[in-house]
Order: sequence, then C-alpha cells, then structure tokens
Amino acid sequence: MRIVIASSEAVPFSKTGGLADVASSLSKALAEAGHEVWLVTPYYPQELAKLGDRAPKLEPLNLTLPIAVGTHLVTAQVYKTMLPGSNVSTFLIDQPEYFDRPSLYVDRLGDYRDNCERFVFFSRSVIQLAEALHFEPDIIHANDWQTALIPALLQIEGGMRIGLGQTASVFTIHNLAFQGQFWHWDMLLTGLDWKYFNWRQMEFFGNLNLMKTGIIFSDMITTVSPTYAREIQTPEFGCGLNGVLSSRRDVLVGILNGVDTEDWNPAHDRYLPKTYDVHTVDVGKAACKAELQKRLGLPISADKAVFGLVSRLTGQKGLDLVMGSTHDLMRHDVQLVVLGTGEPGYEAGLQRLAQEFPEKIAVTIGYNEELAHLIEAGSDIFLMPSQYEPCGLNQMYSLMYGTVPIVRSVGGLADSVVDATEGNVANSTANGFSFHEYRSDVLFRQVCRALGLYLDRRTWRQLQRTGMERDWSWKRSAKDYVAAYQRAIQKRRHDR
Ligand code: ADP
Ligand code: GLC
Repeated sequence: MRIVIASSEAVPFSKTGGLADVASSLSKALAEAGHEVWLVTPYYPQELAKLGDRAPKLEPLNLTLPIAVGTHLVTAQVYKTMLPGSNVSTFLIDQPEYFDRPSLYVDRLGDYRDNCERFVFFSRSVIQLAEALHFEPDIIHANDWQTALIPALLQIEGGMRIGLGQTASVFTIHNLAFQGQFWHWDMLLTGLDWKYFNWRQMEFFGNLNLMKTGIIFSDMITTVSPTYAREIQTPEFGCGLNGVLSSRRDVLVGILNGVDTEDWNPAHDRYLPKTYDVHTVDVGKAACKAELQKRLGLPISADKAVFGLVSRLTGQKGLDLVMGSTHDLMRHDVQLVVLGTGEPGYEAGLQRLAQEFPEKIAVTIGYNEELAHLIEAGSDIFLMPSQYEPCGLNQMYSLMYGTVPIVRSVGGLADSVVDATEGNVANSTANGFSFHEYRSDVLFRQVCRALGLYLDRRTWRQLQRTGMERDWSWKRSAKDYVAAYQRAIQKRRHDR
C-alpha cells in the first residue's frame, strides 16, 4: 500500500505530546511491514535547532508549491529526509511565516491567532505534494484537527487532482478536546464552498470546526484506544461531538497505540545507568533508582517506594487528584518525582509541594527526554490518574519498565492496565492498579493498596513480569491500521 501520514508534529522533528511519537512510530511500523510510507509534517526550524548535531540531514527539494489559502497564494518549500532508522520518506513543509516560531501552536497569550490559516495551508500542502511528486497514495492518514481538513479536500476536490481520485482518507482522533474551532469567516480560508458550512458538515454552533470536518468527511475514523472509541460517543467524553461520532459509528474503530521499542526498551535504553529485562529487573531498577535519587538530590534509599509522574501539566492528566492526595502520601516513607511542564497553576502548586517536602518530593519543571526515561526506569510506581486519556503512552512505558502504574480506568488506561484484584492476581493478568471515581481519596486508596503489595515482593514481581512480558510494540496495532486502511479503500470505491 502507498500511505501518506500527515501530522502537525513528529519525533524527532517536533513534539508537544504523544501525537509526535505515534506519527513516527506508526510510520516506521508500516514501512517495516512492507508498505511504502511518506510522513509529511511542518518544518519548525526552532524545534530542529534544539536537536543540534543530532538533527537529521535535510535535503531541499527543488520544488515550490503554490498553496491557495483563502484568496491568496502562499508558497511551500519542501525538505526531504528519511525518518531515522527507517525507510520512511519524510517531507517537511517549509513556510517560515507560519512555522518559524518559538512553539508549535501557542504563545504566552494562548493559541496563535492564525492557527486556522497555518493548518489549512499545511493540509493543502500535503495533498499538493503528493500530486506534484506523483505518489498516487492509496491512503492519506490525517491526525487531529490540524490535518482534519484533508479528508474534506480529498472528497470534494480529490477528483480534480492528478493521482488522487482514488485516494481514501483515514482520520485519527488523538484528543477530542482540541477541535480546531474558528470563527465562521475562517471558512473562506479553506477554499471550500459555503454550502459545506452547515450543521451536518463543517459548522458547529456557528463556528468552523475542523475536528468535526475530519469526522464527517473521512472514509474511516480511528481513535487511539477501543475504550476511548466508545467513550467519545457519550456526553461525558464527547466534547459536544458525541452525536456526530455516534452517527458515524459504523466507520469508527479504536486501535491502541504501540510503543516505539527502539526508543523505549529497558533492555537497551541509552539513558539508563544500567539496562535490564524481565530477568534482571531487580538489579537493573535498583541501579536506576539510585541514579534517579542522586540526580534529583533525594536521599538514596533502595527501600523507599518511589512514585513517578511524567506528564503535560494540564487538567486532563488528573493533577488535581495527585496534588489533593500528596499530603496523605507524605505521611508514608516514600518519595515522589515529577517531571512536566504546562499550566502555571500546576507548575507552581507542585513546586510548592517540593519546597514543603524537600527530602521526599522532587519536581522538575521542563521537558527532558533523558529524565523521562530515568523516571520510568527508576520509579517503583507510576501515577497516571487522568480525567480522560485517549490512549496514553506513559503507562505503557511504565509497564515495559517494570514500574507498576496506578491509573484511572478511562480510555487507553483501561485498555492497558489490569487492576490487581485478588482474581486478577490469582490468574496472573494483573499488572497495575486502577480506579474509576475521580476523587483524591479514591486515588489515595489505590496508593495504599499499591504500597501494601509493594511489600509482598513475590506478588509485586508478578505484577512487573505481567507488564513486561506483554508485547507493547507497534506490530499488532500497525496490522489493525492496515485493516482500517483496507476498509477505507473499499468504502471509497463503493461510494464513488
Ligand atoms: P499526551 O500526548 O496526552 O501528552 P501521552 O502519554 O500520549 O500523553 O504522551 C506523552 C509523551 O510526551 C510521552 O512520550 C511522554 O514521555 C512525553 N512527555 C510528556 N511530558 C514530558 C516532559 N516534561 N519531559 C519529557 N517527556 C515528556
Ligand atoms: C493525545 C492523547 C494521548 C495519546 C496521544 C497519542 O495527546 O492525550 O492519550 O496517547 O494523543 O495518540
């Protein structure tokens, strides 16, 4: 199959969250399965500069694409490279006015005001690039609101574009909370007729809604876990689009993300002082724990249970519960290490806790890949009590690293973590702790359960082993994506 994956972020070129990991590792897995894969993403020079000499070499293509954005033409230059460690051809769309900025989507004042324009431009660039280079893809796979216009462009204009008349679209929802909603006049930027601005298609309570557009116009919709696929059809999790999603449930599937096991694998993780596998987990984790404690200035102690948390610091991630139960937690002889960046209120609140308990809590505000790996390996227990979680990668990293997760049973957390009930422990399916009710005291109860079992070394090892032995790689999920692509192609043929 010839597949184009369009994503507003992709590791190692840029990243604000799991979407960047998924775009690249799914591309790699599909290429490894024998498909011809293109990854298309914006060129953010300031992000690449951060990589220093680790930045992949980019080759400028002798190609200028004139992209219609509303009434004017904006040019796209293109760089080509290979996604490191793969044969995925990667194209970076260069337009400094739009993408040469300190961050991807927001500044201190909030969302960039021209976000609609920027990503209409990018979405059109993806299509015109495929046309200009005669790729004739079977599938264009768009992700989240930033590329959600692509399915509409394919369905409405695809027939007029050389080599794209047959191309089917798949649209993946990574986070329904971010919908790409803009005032109605931004419809003009899309270049599509006003007739599509109606409540059944692109309009949502008077605004242009790109997420809704992707849901309506794609041949297949996927989201990043089976549970989230069900949840988003309900008012509680549907962010107002539950009705729209239910109306398309026959083409909506949930596919759990995988882990890029080249990057995340305790057996060959380049950031760890000692690598380990399921047979050497005790010694390996002990070395990583000591290094973590040393690096963060915490007392070095093998016995104290270390709780880890790596996250964007936003409401989604259940930080209210963590902060609400920290004082209770501090009554125990434990340590808590947090790495994250995000909303100033959470950053300040966590830092205050660290000041209050300097011997027990270490909070690092910032983005730090290396420390993220060390926390996954050096902690005993990982906290992820998200309010909602489409998939979540960190709980899967934890499971692979023998770090037992405590999660709220929503979305992908529910699909990856099996609670240590007596029954699940007895039949060796348990790998962590989960709870439902969104309350600090309920989280704290799980913490106590975990601390109880932590002392029961035999059972603890079994929880670790169960997590570590499961295959979390992309292999299986990539197969499910191929099946979704095939359905999309059939549907496209059938509907034409
Ligand atoms: P989301 O995409 O909602 O943020 P995921 O769990 O899917 O959540 O993915 C988050 C990714 O970002 C993981 O790879 C995680 O390790 C990484 N990450 C988040 N915050 C940080 C941070 N402060 N430093 C390093 N990595 C981080
Ligand atoms: C989103 C979700 C996260 C998911 C990631 C990749 O950022 O919040 O749960 O893992 O996308 O699909």
